[in-house]
Amino acid sequence: MTMKTLFLTTATLIAGTAGMAAAQQTVGFSQIGSESGWRAAETTLTRQQAEERGINLQFSDAQQRQENQIAAIRSFVAQGVDAILLAPVVATGWDSVLEEAAEAEIPVILLDRRVDSAEDLYMTAVGSDLVHEGEVAGDWLVGEVGDEECRVVELEGTTGSSPAIDRATGFRNALEGHDNIEIVRSQTGDFTRSGGKEVMESFLQAEGGGQDICALYAHNDDMALGAIQAINEAGLNPGEDILIVSIDAVPDIFQAMADGDANATVELTPNMAGPAFDALEAYWADGTEPEKFIQTDSTLYTQSDDPMAEYEARKDLGY
Ligand code: AHR
Repeated sequence: MTMKTLFLTTATLIAGTAGMAAAQQTVGFSQIGSESGWRAAETTLTRQQAEERGINLQFSDAQQRQENQIAAIRSFVAQGVDAILLAPVVATGWDSVLEEAAEAEIPVILLDRRVDSAEDLYMTAVGSDLVHEGEVAGDWLVGEVGDEECRVVELEGTTGSSPAIDRATGFRNALEGHDNIEIVRSQTGDFTRSGGKEVMESFLQAEGGGQDICALYAHNDDMALGAIQAINEAGLNPGEDILIVSIDAVPDIFQAMADGDANATVELTPNMAGPAFDALEAYWADGTEPEKFIQTDSTLYTQSDDPMAEYEARKDLGY
């Protein structure tokens, strides 16, 4: 054996670890759609992360429909991909297709939302504690209004999605024992800016032109931004006449905070793919199984947190 052959053989053996292994892997990503700025950033960052790690990413946009996600997963299984990332639009109805992936021995990682299936049907879930997010938003409001009477309207996320369910629960947890704060209206705006605007218009109309509303809790920033437009058009001052707290920390909400139009947001990082690919690379390298839940932070930002600096820090991240 020549020195050159020996070197190549040794190098090939050493390279049989995460980095090289990842370079040969194909990962299917079933994304919900592009309902919000946050989701656009998650898609951008997932593509970037895959490229940086040499992972071949097969992307499928479900346009908000669960049946499209199920079809995409079946197609990934048929192709024999090495892993599947799934951001599930709703929490129920995944058992059969997850069983099909499990039978094909393809690990599935959930991104940002949860499912009600048995835990052994997926490898891990990357995301925040969605109930806690709602609690952080509610705690902020409780602190802000003190003993004042406060009638709250709520813009819910997509019906049946885990963030809509859990963020509603968390917010109510925080309000327990604070009878001066009451949720008077609650309706889905489907996590979209247009949905937020439309539903807020109907809230304003039903609540004395907005005079009877003290605060808005929106399950995401995009709906809050749509609602801000509606409040402005109704001749009120968002952020003053109606307090606004929401979730995601997208650049536009920081701009709104800097303008005095929004009051608080709870950050959800759009970089779910980083921890997911870390887990997969460890698994491919030596079979290490990740924890069942890889939790991201839920940081509260208010107008006193230099919103323009936060805007600048995020504006080029694909939101
Ligand atoms: O699942 C995360 C939620 O989905 C984000 O808060 C929202 O913006 C998105 O549509």
